[in-house]
Amino acid sequence: MRHLTVVDHPLVQHKLTLLRMKQTPTAEFRRLVNEIALLLAYEITRDLPLEEVPIETPLMPARSKVLAGKKVCIVSILRAGDGLLEGMLDLIPSARVGHIGLYRDPVTLQPVDYYYKVPQDIAERPVIVVDPMLATANSAARAIARLKESGARDIKFACLLAAPEGLARMKEAHPDVPVFTASLDDGLDDHGYILPGLGDAGDRLFGTK
Ligand code: URA
Repeated sequence: MRHLTVVDHPLVQHKLTLLRMKQTPTAEFRRLVNEIALLLAYEITRDLPLEEVPIETPLMPARSKVLAGKKVCIVSILRAGDGLLEGMLDLIPSARVGHIGLYRDPVTLQPVDYYYKVPQDIAERPVIVVDPMLATANSAARAIARLKESGARDIKFACLLAAPEGLARMKEAHPDVPVFTASLDDGLDDHGYILPGLGDAGDRLFGTK
């Protein structure tokens, strides 16, 4: 599988433009994130395994396909990752949900997890890690390393925007984890914000600015 997939569907690109605009209010921002998350989930789940089961239609017995294996687990990187959950769960309602909270150690500057809750059998599930902004990728790389420590092997990463710096870091740290994004942006500013970006995703989602 490709390491990077830019979901360039016209609906995604249109909604993303509205999302970037600074005058977009919180309620509208949330709604757009939900819609884009659903469309990202559609692309990410394209290769889920299927199996045939016997069914009866109103006309005759038949064989038809259903999803095989354990249910997907979506893992949100707190707090902005939670913004992508609702839209994804609209499409995959039976998905399990995990959470990882990270902070930056003031001495080592490395991300440390302060909260970690995922299903015990995460090793047997396809995992989609979600965080809207892949900027430096420090949090994403650490979260994925933690999931691998728990045995997870089938991991994908979903974001709204990715910076080339973050993408390079992910490729180096986790070449086996494909990244799905609605846009590959230009780069990072001195504070680690994605340019042109959409600002602080958590603040815009939760109205905390
Ligand atoms: N996190 C955000 O919310 N926005 C950015 O641009 C980068 C990281």
